[in-house]
Amino acid sequence: MNDPAARVRIFDTSLRDGEQSPGCSMTAPQKLRFAHALAELGVDVIEAGFPASSEADMDAVRSIAREVRNATVATLARCHTGDIDACARALEGAVHPRIHVFISTSPLHREHKLGLSREQVLERAVMGVERARRYVDDVEFSAEDALRTEPEFLAEICSAALASGARTLNIPDTVGYTTPSEIRALFEYLRANVARADEAVFSAHCHNDLGLAVANSLAAIEGGARQVECTINGIGERAGNCALEELVMALRVRGEYYDAHTRIDTRRLVPTSRLLSRITGMAVQRNKAVVGQNAFAHESGIHQHGMLKHRGTYEIMRPEDVGWAQSQMVMGRHSGRAALSDRLQALGFALDEAKLNSVFASFKALAEKKREVFDADLEALVLGTDARA
Ligand code: KIV
Ligand code: ZN
Repeated sequence: MNDPAARVRIFDTSLRDGEQSPGCSMTAPQKLRFAHALAELGVDVIEAGFPASSEADMDAVRSIAREVRNATVATLARCHTGDIDACARALEGAVHPRIHVFISTSPLHREHKLGLSREQVLERAVMGVERARRYVDDVEFSAEDALRTEPEFLAEICSAALASGARTLNIPDTVGYTTPSEIRALFEYLRANVARADEAVFSAHCHNDLGLAVANSLAAIEGGARQVECTINGIGERAGNCALEELVMALRVRGEYYDAHTRIDTRRLVPTSRLLSRITGMAVQRNKAVVGQNAFAHESGIHQHGMLKHRGTYEIMRPEDVGWAQSQMVMGRHSGRAALSDRLQALGFALDEAKLNSVFASFKALAEKKREVFDADLEALVLGTDARA
C-alpha cells in the first residue's frame, strides 16, 4: 500500500497526445476553450501541444500559456535544440511553465527509428534536459516505449535525466503492451534503482491497445507513480490513452484501497466530456464508464426494483458526483411493474391496482414494438386506458 493518502497529480494530454489522433484535431480557439475547461476541472498539468510540429500548434500553446493561470502548462519536445527552443518561445508568459522532453529508449526504437546506440540516446537525453533547464525549472523527461526497454538501461537514463535537472520521470507504455502486475513491478524497480529516486515524481503514461490503460495506470500508482497522464474520454493515438474520468473515479470510489486522491472536481467530468465531444465531433460510446449515456441507466425489472429500494444495489457512485443530473430508469421491454408504477407516480398519476394492471399490459405490448417507451407514450397509455374505462 502507498504512503497515507498520497496525492496523485493529473496531467491531461487531451490537447497533445489526444489531439494528434485521427478525428480529434482542434483549432487554436477550440484548444484554448478546452484548456480553460481542463483548468476548471482541476487538472494539475495541461499538456497544451507540440509547438515545433506546426505554426498552428505554436499559436494554440502561446494563447493557452498566456491565459491559463491556475494549472501548469506543459509542452512537448524531442531532445532536439529546435524543439526545445520552440517550447520556450511558446511558453513565454506562462505562470507555471513545464518543458517535457522525450526520446525513445527501447531496443526496437533505438535501432529502427533512431539508428542510435544506447550511449547516444543517453547523451541526447542529458542534452535535452539540460537545454530545457536553461529556460524553466520544471522539466519532465519521458523514455518513449519504456515498457519495452531493458529495465537497467531505463534506470540508468532516468538517473541521468534526474541528475541533469528533470523533476518528473515519465514511463510511457507507448504501445499499450504492458499488464498491471508488470508495470507495478517496473515502478517498484525504478524507485529502488534510480539514483536519488526520492527527488523525482514518477509518472505513468499508458496507451490502451489492449484495453488496459486505466488498469495499468492504477497498478503504476500502486508501484509508486504520483502523476498519471491521461485524456478526457480516453482519446489518443490508436485505441487511445488512459481515460481521465475512469482513473479519477476509480481513485475516488476505491480511495481507501489505493490510499490516494486527486484534486479533480468530479462534478465537472460529464460537462468536460461533452464539451470535448462537441468540439471534436467524436461521440462517446453509450456504455462508456462514467460519462457514457448508459453509465447510470437501468432497464431490467430486477435492477429497477432494486434501485427503487436502495440505489447502492446497482450503483457504486452517485450520478450527481460526476455531473449527471440523476440516474435514469429506461422504460423498455425488460422493465417491471414497480418501475412503471414509480414512473407514473412521478408523472402525476395515482392509479389503483386494477388500472395499473391494465396500463402495465398495454405498456408491455408497446415495449415489444418500441425499443424505449417515453413519458409521452406512458401518458397516452394512461389516458387511453381512462378513455376505455
Ligand atoms: O506515448 C508516448 O510515449 C508519448 C510520449 C511522447 C510521452 O506520448
Ligand atoms: Zn502517448
